[in-house]
Amino acid sequence: MGKIIFIAGNWKMNKTVDQTVEFFKNLEDKLIGFNNTNISIVIFPSFISLDAANKISNKVKVGAQNLHTRSSGAYTGEVSPVMLKDICEYVLIGHSERRHIFKENNELINKKVKIALEYGLKPVLCMGETKEERTAQQTFEVLRTQINSGLKDLSANQIGKLIFAYEPVWAIGTGDTATPDQAQNVHKFIRELLKSKIKNPYDFLILYGGSVKPDNCFQLLSQPDIDGALIGGASLQVEVFFDIIQKSNKVELS
Ligand code: PGA
Repeated sequence: MGKIIFIAGNWKMNKTVDQTVEFFKNLEDKLIGFNNTNISIVIFPSFISLDAANKISNKVKVGAQNLHTRSSGAYTGEVSPVMLKDICEYVLIGHSERRHIFKENNELINKKVKIALEYGLKPVLCMGETKEERTAQQTFEVLRTQINSGLKDLSANQIGKLIFAYEPVWAIGTGDTATPDQAQNVHKFIRELLKSKIKNPYDFLILYGGSVKPDNCFQLLSQPDIDGALIGGASLQVEVFFDIIQKSNKVELS
């Protein structure tokens, strides 16, 4: 497999079903004639829009923002991997908002990774340090724990199926992006750590997330260990998101 760039939009709790359909139609239109097999585009809409998005998507792939750890049962308000597996390909696990607002811990995140894999969903495991942790120079330690616990008891083969996303908490939705050097530094660390767990770590995709915009995506994606972007705010407007896709297409792949 040649190197690819992975551009993902995390819509969080935004857009109705109608707005989702409009966005997808619009983006698919823009992608006609955009011939680049090196870019993978994935959108993570809300649960209720997944089916509609999946039905009209073609070049754009679809993913869920969360899942439950059980396949069915008395879990009011939850969504199981069985419900997701036929309508999407990817699932975000351990996003900063799930960890901090919804108090998901590493143990729960590990269970979610396992059940996602069991049902053939591709997990995008998110991780990142808070501002306090960075200031206290604990970034690597925090990430080591998030990775080691998130991947606990997984085989090398299973780990090989994951995509990773480094999203410093202080950069999410703040406009305060990590510099390309700061991000590269952490991505290199993540890759080295993964290298110790699996034979061929350079097949891993490690995305950067946190205030990615059209004016900073090129520099970030040009770093050797940054394989893509997980984009929140700037993925909500189709023109802005498409601008990022076009700029990413200019990044030289080694
Ligand atoms: P942001 O969000 O691009 O708005 O900072 C990124 C994310 O939460 O995935």
